[in-house]
Amino acid sequence: MLIALLPGDGIGPEVVAEAKRVLDALAIPGLAYEDALVGGAGYHEYGHPLPPETLSLARRADAILFGAVGDPRCDTLERSLRPEQAILGLRKELNLFSNLRPAKMFPELADASTLRREVAEAIDLLIVRELNGDVYFGEKGMRRTEDGLREGYDIMSYNEAEVRRIAHSAFRAARARRGLLCSVDKANVLETSQLWRDIVIEVATEYTDVALSHMYVDNAAMQLVRNPGQFDVIVTGNLFGDILSDQASMCVGSIGMLASASLDANGKGLYEPIHGSAPDIAGQGKANPLATILSAAMMLRFSLGQAEAADRIEAAVGKALASGARTADLGGTMSTSAMGDAVLAAL
Ligand code: NAD
Ligand code: IPM
Ligand code: MN
Repeated sequence: MLIALLPGDGIGPEVVAEAKRVLDALAIPGLAYEDALVGGAGYHEYGHPLPPETLSLARRADAILFGAVGDPRCDTLERSLRPEQAILGLRKELNLFSNLRPAKMFPELADASTLRREVAEAIDLLIVRELNGDVYFGEKGMRRTEDGLREGYDIMSYNEAEVRRIAHSAFRAARARRGLLCSVDKANVLETSQLWRDIVIEVATEYTDVALSHMYVDNAAMQLVRNPGQFDVIVTGNLFGDILSDQASMCVGSIGMLASASLDANGKGLYEPIHGSAPDIAGQGKANPLATILSAAMMLRFSLGQAEAADRIEAAVGKALASGARTADLGGTMSTSAMGDAVLAAL
């Protein structure tokens, strides 16, 4: 099995290095690794954030472990050359439409959440975010109004096939969990969301064992901090899912804790923490590597048929946290590599 390692920018290489140490410690036979430059690193070396060699490695690989992309030095480049285009390009080129972002409270971390302990402790939810459509991939541009004013635009759209396939992913996920699915949209205002809701209701007839509810996204943002324990699986579009998952991460203690899997229809996946390149702490050994370590566990589970090894990593993370291991985002003083050491010791 070939694993593509794409560390990227900022804290990306720092956190991927710790995940790789954990993978190495498991000594799973038959795993091979190749790495490649992506994001700002790709741009600086080859003039493109997603160099052809990197894309072809990603295509060849059985799974991809991704760090983060984003480099403030690139923020004034034309959009097609910016680091973020690399992750958007990989998601689109590889048809990675189903993004699973689990947020589960490690009981040892209740003190790191900004929510009250009894509210935070109840969190065990999964955000299923559509990843190939929405306002992210519609026509966009800059134009002039009749009055000569500059006007930016981004078209938001979903077609029914796109909604149907993510709905099936979400219903299957809900069936394997507590059987509750909440579809989050803005159907009171957006046509895109009206279609979304109609299709989700249609697909629901095939999953009568799952209880479906609908919620507007503004209410969902509020309910996530009021009573997050009410959610099992949330299914939503690309933009709403992006925002709600950062919010959910803080509810369970830190953005440095949330892992993700981005899957195609055949189980091929890209695995990455939900956070970005964190330029404010890059190069200082402060980043929490747990989201990436937990992403490696998801990779073992979903793409490499190694559920037992995935369980071992997740248990080791819990044990490290129970022993008091804390990076700065969790209220501690440990470095990135010391946190990696704590997980290895627990393993
Ligand atoms: P960010 O997630 O990089 O950082 C937000 C805040 O969280 C910062 O204060 C950062 O220090 C902190 N943080 C993030 N990850 C952390 C970790 N593992 N440990 C401790 N603290 C952590 O978001 P941003 O600042 O809005 O974006 C920075 C860059 O990253 C931008 O270029 C953005 O486009 C990019 N980005 C990339 C991805 C990705 O590669 N998938 C995701 C989000 C943002
Ligand atoms: C994420 C990020 C990306 C997104 C950016 C970097 C394109 O925020 O993975 O959550 O918006 O999807
Ligand atoms: Mn995001």
